[in-house]
Order: sequence, then C-alpha cells, then structure tokens
Amino acid sequence: MKALARPNIHDLAVYKPGKPIKEVQRELGLEEVVKLASNENPLGPSLLALKALEAAVPDVYLYPDGSSYRLKQTLSEYYGGLDPDQILFANGSNELVQQLSLAFLNPGDEVVAPRPSFPRYEPLARMMNARAVEVDLTDFRLDLEALGRAVTERTKLVYICNPNNPTGTIVTKSEVDAFLGGLPADCLAVFDEAYFEYVDDPAYPDGLEYLRNGNRQVVVLRTFSKCFGLAGLRIGYALADPEIIAFLERVREPFNVNALAQAAAEAALRDGAHKQRVVELNRREKQFLYREFDRLGIEYIPSEANFILFNARRDEQEVFQAMLRQGVIIRGGFGYRTWLRVTVGTREQNEKFIHTLQSVLTEG
Ligand SMILES: Cc1ncc(COP(=O)(O)O)c(C=O)c1O
Repeated sequence: MKALARPNIHDLAVYKPGKPIKEVQRELGLEEVVKLASNENPLGPSLLALKALEAAVPDVYLYPDGSSYRLKQTLSEYYGGLDPDQILFANGSNELVQQLSLAFLNPGDEVVAPRPSFPRYEPLARMMNARAVEVDLTDFRLDLEALGRAVTERTKLVYICNPNNPTGTIVTKSEVDAFLGGLPADCLAVFDEAYFEYVDDPAYPDGLEYLRNGNRQVVVLRTFSKCFGLAGLRIGYALADPEIIAFLERVREPFNVNALAQAAAEAALRDGAHKQRVVELNRREKQFLYREFDRLGIEYIPSEANFILFNARRDEQEVFQAMLRQGVIIRGGFGYRTWLRVTVGTREQNEKFIHTLQSVLTEG
C-alpha cells in the first residue's frame, strides 16, 4: 500500500485530539472526568442556539444550503455590514487551513508558520508537497521579525496564530503593521484568530481591520468552536478579499457546513449576552487560576485566550498521565519538556484541576 500512497504523506503526523471524556472513563474505569484539554467553552452554547438546533432537526433529510446564505447575511450584519463576498464558512476553521493549502500551494512552495502553534499548518502544507518552514517562538511569543525573515520568493502563506495556541500570547498591532509592511505582494498573511473573542489587551490587532482598510493579502480565520461553544457542530469561517474567497470556493466541498451548524451559529451570533457571560467567566477564572498557580509557586504564561500554559517542572508526559489517572485531562506534547496547557473551566473544574495538580506534583 505504501507504493500507492503519495510519498509526501507517508510520514505526516496524524492529528492527536485531546482525549475524549468517554474514552478516559472507559479505559481507566473512572466516573468523574474533567476535560480541560481542547479549549472548549465550559458554559456550552447559547440557549438560543440550542433552540435553533432543535427547530432545524426535522429538516435534516434535506441537503443544507451550500452557500450558507442566511448565516452569511447574519455574520455580515454582526460585523457592521461586511461584504458577504468576503465571508466563507467551513467545517471548522481547521478545514480552511486545508482549503488554503489546496487553493494556493504548488509543490515546492513554502509556508511559514510559528512553532509551537496550532499543529495543522505544517502537515497541511506538506500534504501539497509544499515545504513548511517553522519558526520558533521567542519567550513564548510569535517572533514576527523572525517570521518575516523566513519569507522567501517561494513563500505563499504565513500563519500568524493570534492569540497563539498553546501559549495564549499575542502579537501587537504595531508588530503586525511592521510585518505586513515588509511582506512581498504575492504572499498571504493568514491570521488564525480562533480565540479572538477572549482577548482583552488593547494592543491586539483585529485582523478584520486590515481587510476593511483594503489590505488584500490578509486572511482571517475565526470559529464557533470556542467562545460560541459549538465545537461539536464543526463550523468556522474565513474573512478575506472576495477574490481569495472565490478561489477557496473552488476547492470547497459543496455541502461542507451542515444544516444544524448553520442554524445554531446564526442564533449564537444573535445572543450577545451569552457571549458576554462566557468572556466574563473566562476572565474571572483565569484570575483564579493565576492566583492558584502563584500560591503553588508554579510558573505560567499570562494568556489572552481561554487556556494557560504552565510549567510543572516535571516531565510533561508524566504529569499528563498522572493527571489522567485522577480524571483530569489536560494537554502536553508541545515540545516544551515540562510545560502543559490547561483550558480555563468553571470554578468547580478549575478547583479539581488545581487539587489534582497539587497532589500530582507533591507525590514527587
Ligand atoms: C489556533 C486554532 N486554530 C484553529 C482551531 C480549529 O478550530 P475549529 O474547531 O474551528 O476547526 C483551533 C482549535 O483548537 C485552534 O486552537
């Protein structure tokens, strides 16, 4: 079979998701399991979204609207009258990374991406026989100058994950302005803003502003999986120049966004109060976790997102496994020997996480 498969995919890493709760319950015989591994929203979706879902269920025998027309109108209004031709929905923002590869990468082209970051940029470049050039973070932050220096005449896409997963750090507007000023005209800057809604830092640049100001090289990726609590439905979107969107349309599967996701996302956009609750809970609980980390003498990286990277000062895989055995799923494997990432949960979940971490770390 190996001879049948394209050589460039032979050693692509298969994505390893955060361990599902049911799997941990089954494998370890645990009843109570807390998952703080995939940056999901602990409050879940808006009740309006759940109602819209229920109302949409009887029609699932019909194909969905392949163009997501109504949702596009709603999102356009949500962004104060954005041109609907600048919007494209997908089966999670993850799928947009794949579509960007399919639409823009020839063999031998280059993709520049930060490391560690969202782990799909690199394999989805190599899938197309393109070269992924990964640029290490500096002090847990994206180094835009270094990313800029890595751009060559073969570079088609540069990924800027802002806030960055797994560090929660941002690059600032002035850094981005300078970076975009030096970017060759035949290269796209892709801002992965999966955690956009959580950011508080006033220095944070809203990628959409660059589009509004006529920058045609900027692609913004956002999602309903995080702040809107719809990860299980799989829906995200790209905001970009209409010509870029038209190319992504050419590689898009006709019915990639299902009818339930479209209905729920539309309702979720209309529930500003729920979004506010989610953001406020996250803000409050981040402070709780910071205080607890300080109390325990645990180093952490202040985060603009809904997760925190912390230094357990023990082998991260050992800590991950020990936490798992006590029913708390977190995430490691970022290439930092002793650092792990925890998603900000409810107070109850965060307390369980802290108690468990404390017991794991004092067990030696
Ligand atoms: C930075 C980043 N981008 C994209 C995604 C994928 O999100 P979606 O569920 O929309 O595919 C994630 C999910 O963890 C992420 O952290």
